[in-house]
Amino acid sequence: MLLRPLMPEDAALYPDFLAEVTAEDLRLRFFAPMREVSHELIDKLIHYDPQHAMAFIAIEEASGKMLGVVRLHDDPDGERGEFAILVRSRLKGRGLGWLLMKHMIANAKDKGLKTVHGQVLAENSSMLLMCSELGFHTVEDPDERGVKVVTLPLNEVPALPD
Ligand SMILES: CC(C)(COP(=O)(O)OP(=O)(O)OC[C@H]1O[C@@H](n2cnc3c(N)ncnc32)[C@H](O)[C@@H]1OP(=O)(O)O)[C@@H](O)C(=O)NCCC(=O)NCCS
Repeated sequence: MLLRPLMPEDAALYPDFLAEVTAEDLRLRFFAPMREVSHELIDKLIHYDPQHAMAFIAIEEASGKMLGVVRLHDDPDGERGEFAILVRSRLKGRGLGWLLMKHMIANAKDKGLKTVHGQVLAENSSMLLMCSELGFHTVEDPDERGVKVVTLPLNEVPALPD
C-alpha cells in the first residue's frame, strides 16, 4: 500500500472507490443520506488549497486502486485543523483507518498545528473508539444534536502502536 498526498489526477480513482463505499459509510462521512457523490463534490474534495489543507490517499500498489483518504483543513486561526476520513467499506477493520489517522496526526504536528478535531456522529461507535484510542477527547457538539466533537491536543499525542 502506498500513502501519498491526494493529487488532482486522483479524481479518476474516486468512482471505483465510491462504488465500494456503502450508503451508510457515506452518511457517516458526510452526515447526510447520499445516493451518490456528485462530480461537484469530488471536484471540491480534490482541489484543496495546499496552503490551508492537506489530504492523503491510500492506494493499493498492485492495482492502483484507491483504498481510503484522510483530509485535514486548517481553521482560519491557523492553530487548529479539522479532519475527515473514509475507507473503502470492504476493507474496514484491517487497520487502514488507524494508519491514515496516524499519518494525518503526524503531518498536523509537523505543520505546527496545536490541535486537530473532527465531527463524528454519535452512533459511529467504531470511529469514536478509534479516536479515543488515538488520544482524542470527546464532547457533545454544542451546535448539532447527535454529533460529537473529538479533539486531539497535539502536545499530548501518546506513543501509538504502528
Ligand atoms: C471510521 C473508519 C475510518 C475506520 O477505518 P478502519 O480502517 O475500519 O479502522 P481500523 O481497522 O484502522 O481500526 C479499527 C479498529 O482497530 C483498532 N486499531 C487498528 N489498528 C490498530 C493498531 N495498530 N493498534 C491499535 N489499535 C488499532 C482501532 O482502534 C479500531 O478498534 P475497534 O475495531 O476495536 O473499534 C472507517 O470505518 C470508515 O471509513 N467509516 C465511514 C466513514 C466515517 O465514519 N468517517 C468518520 C467521520 S469523518
